[in-house]
Amino acid sequence: MPIDKNRIRKKIVSLIEKINQHNYYYHTLDQPQISDNEYDNIYLQLKSLESKYPDLVESHSPTQRVGSKLLNTFNKVHHEHAMLSLTNASNDMEFENFYAKLFDEIESDQIALYAEPKFDGLAISITYLDGIYTSAVTRGDGQTGEDVTANIRTIKTLPLKLKSKNPPKKLILRAEVFMNISDFESLNRQLLKNKEKTFANPRNVAAGSIRQLDPKITSSRNLQIIFHGVVSTSSNNHACHSESLNYIKDLGLPISSLNDIVMSLAQAKKYIININNLRDNLPYEIDGIVFKIDDYSYRIRIGSTSKAPKWAIAYKFISAEAKTKLENVIFQVGRTGTITPVAILSSINIGGVTVSRASLHNMDEIQKKDIRINDIVYVKRAGDVIPEIDRVCFEERHNSKKIVPPKICPACKTPLLKVSQQSIYRCPNTIGCKPQIIQTIEHFTSRKAMNISGLGESIIESLVDNSYVKNYSDLYKLNQVDIMKLDRLAEKSSKNIIDSINSSKIVDFDRFIYALGIKEVGTTTAKILSKKYNALNKLMSADKQSLECINDIGPIVGDNIFNFFQLKRNIVIIDSLLSSGVTIKYHQTKKNKNIINKKFVITGSFANYTRLELEKIIDNYGGNISNSISKKTNVLIVGNNPGSKYKKALDLGIKIINEKELSKIL
Ligand code: IVH
Repeated sequence: MPIDKNRIRKKIVSLIEKINQHNYYYHTLDQPQISDNEYDNIYLQLKSLESKYPDLVESHSPTQRVGSKLLNTFNKVHHEHAMLSLTNASNDMEFENFYAKLFDEIESDQIALYAEPKFDGLAISITYLDGIYTSAVTRGDGQTGEDVTANIRTIKTLPLKLKSKNPPKKLILRAEVFMNISDFESLNRQLLKNKEKTFANPRNVAAGSIRQLDPKITSSRNLQIIFHGVVSTSSNNHACHSESLNYIKDLGLPISSLNDIVMSLAQAKKYIININNLRDNLPYEIDGIVFKIDDYSYRIRIGSTSKAPKWAIAYKFISAEAKTKLENVIFQVGRTGTITPVAILSSINIGGVTVSRASLHNMDEIQKKDIRINDIVYVKRAGDVIPEIDRVCFEERHNSKKIVPPKICPACKTPLLKVSQQSIYRCPNTIGCKPQIIQTIEHFTSRKAMNISGLGESIIESLVDNSYVKNYSDLYKLNQVDIMKLDRLAEKSSKNIIDSINSSKIVDFDRFIYALGIKEVGTTTAKILSKKYNALNKLMSADKQSLECINDIGPIVGDNIFNFFQLKRNIVIIDSLLSSGVTIKYHQTKKNKNIINKKFVITGSFANYTRLELEKIIDNYGGNISNSISKKTNVLIVGNNPGSKYKKALDLGIKIINEKELSKIL
């Protein structure tokens, strides 16, 4: 019987349509409509027909995503439309200047800006001819790029055929190719397991994967694609970018769900804040926001330079990472004698701040990351956090030298003790080791402790060097003349110091406990202790067991507290403080049944309270404050521009109240 090729072609086309539709449900919408089994069945039917009739294989068939051919090279392709770059705004002022300039060119009260996340990936130009995916080219130098059609074809969210009965003859698009963080991490885990080199960040993997000669490898990397521009289309002439993006979305092309239109500077700033808040919870990395004029006619009026359009700007988030050389490692003695390795770096600017030192935590950390002197390292800085070395750039390792921990204290030469299983070393000479003495006094004077101002590290050091002060209780024996004798201290500043010392004498119990500087007793533990004992003599005579049993304290910290009060020297210091007039204020809880013993979390900003004030109120009424939402949280107090805690609380069904409702409760 003659084969009815037409019927088979029709069958093949219908199977392709079906599979492509289900691919879209599964990969793009994340809403599968059929089971994996059913999908596999349809796929196998198509495969078997195609292998029987190879001349009927369509280029947009899903079986063609991963070609079996190895590529020789990447052909050079000239871009029909140059691929421009974007001008960066590194701060609010640069963004405001860009915004203001738009109004010099366009006489209008309002200009619609289209706002999109700036994906940290690679720019690709993609062409569809008659609705069929035809080519993908890298940016290259903007004029000429490389043909990566076979590799981009493997990206599962890229439709090989557009969803349209009447597709444009030619559609040229701009997209970003990137990798999700979870895929990046599992790839690195795998590489590590196989003792192979790992990648520095998802962007590097995406770049490497696009330029693989074997598309099978590209396919295994599970790359993502998001479309952010329509450069030219032979049909459907749209008036603005938002219309174009909606149009391509209807064609089945993935665009970001975070895109939005902003109509004013205030709205643009709000968008920046919102996306920045979301940033850590996104499955992929973004490094800023792109603002583009929406209206195409305005774009033409404003024009472009040879490098970048003048109608768009990339608002860059503060970069928190930079690469530099690890020059040396020194070992510092901390307040409680802990020896900490500190990295001395070739100075580097990270997000506007010059960094020349970074924390290395402990020897375990150094070994785990295999950090050595002379290495090129990636340094991270987030907000006010101390910069730290994230990882080594192993590709650039030359003449590296192992870091050897000291055996004796670098300050007082006492042999070091190894504490705990981890490689943490401690100088046991609490009384005679100068850095420990100075830092203990500094801690005592700090804002959250006795809050004595004017006494910086160098003044404390000269007070100690000149034997005016041996421990913090001696501060209350100082007079203005003593202080004025110190180098360069004028009458006024020495008087300020004495005034501040005197006014620190009346102190809340929790601050007093914190100021003592007991190992691992921070402000939270100090608060718990102050509430539980509410009298110094009770705390000082607490037995080991009762301390260890306090919730949230645990045996190690309990031990530290107990041991502190066993040392005669500490008792003498406390006596001296009290006899110098230090007076402890004890806690008097105002009871509120809606607050007492409940766990509160705060997010956002408030009209009538600062965050510290809110914390104090909750504390005064007997509630507890914690920084993160968990199942144990009882109430979230939510203000303006709440962070991710808000969504988490909603998800966990935690009670949420606003400022007004809190006032009512109070
Ligand atoms: S629009 C004419 N939109 O950023 C400029 N670019 O620094 C067209 N990028 O080469 C670019 N996300 O690779 C645009 N939502 C987005 C983007 C985006 C990431 C990349 C793109 C571009 C680079 C410029």
